[in-house]
Amino acid sequence: MRLVLLGPPGAGKGTQATRLASRYGLTHVSTGDIFRTNVAQGTELGREAERYMDAGELVPDEVVVRMVRETLEGIDGGFLLDGFPRTVGQAEALEAALSEAGRPLTAVLAFDLDDEVALRRLAGRRTCERCGAVFHVEFDPPEGEGVCDVCGGPLAQRSDDAEETVRRRIAVFHETGDPLRGWYEERGLVHAIDADATPDEVFARAEAVLDAPAKAAR
Ligand code: AP5
Repeated sequence: MRLVLLGPPGAGKGTQATRLASRYGLTHVSTGDIFRTNVAQGTELGREAERYMDAGELVPDEVVVRMVRETLEGIDGGFLLDGFPRTVGQAEALEAALSEAGRPLTAVLAFDLDDEVALRRLAGRRTCERCGAVFHVEFDPPEGEGVCDVCGGPLAQRSDDAEETVRRRIAVFHETGDPLRGWYEERGLVHAIDADATPDEVFARAEAVLDAPAKAAR
């Protein structure tokens, strides 16, 4: 299975990607996580990406496409792309790379969420600085305040989750993400999922979509 997850910042792509990767045995590729790791390690890629991320803007297509191509070359089985593609240009480059490898996409899951709900989710998000696990102060609080349930590491707010930056990220999502979705709709790959529900309910909706072809074939 080869999947793309679309949706605005805060739609729960990362939350659902972790669960779906585990449920279907897929490699989870998050371009945002790869950039954040590079920023933390102070690499050249990290220094280049950081100024765009902190402004809520997209990292230029050529940088992201090169990085994803290299990542996909190292993956033999199924994968799930979280945060990529984000522009029609990135989608075209992905389509060319996958068609060259004879591994076309299986489906695109589009998580729909109202902008104001997304804003509230991001304002309360806390991420483990050690293992990357994601929590929410109100909707998914850790057992101990400021401490990761998974590894005991410290929880912090992402630098691009400041309200003004989030508003810019949401605006950028509509500028580039809406045409991108249309591009995938033309290819008959999009399955819309209402993401305004609990994480368990959203996961069940995604599972229903992904298991439908298997059930139909039985
Ligand atoms: P990236 O890291 O991809 O961020 P994003 O797309 O803005 O998405 P988020 O990670 O903010 O949200 P999410 O949908 O994963 O939500 P989450 O599950 O965490 O990108 C960051 C930056 O990197 C970009 O702005 C750009 O600069 C750059 N970049 C990355 N990819 C790029 C690309 N392809 N091209 C160019 N630039 C690129 O959930 C959010 C919160 O809500 C959490 O606290 C969670 O606990 C909570 N939550 C989740 N689900 C629910 C639910 N159902 N109910 C209640 N709360 C929930």
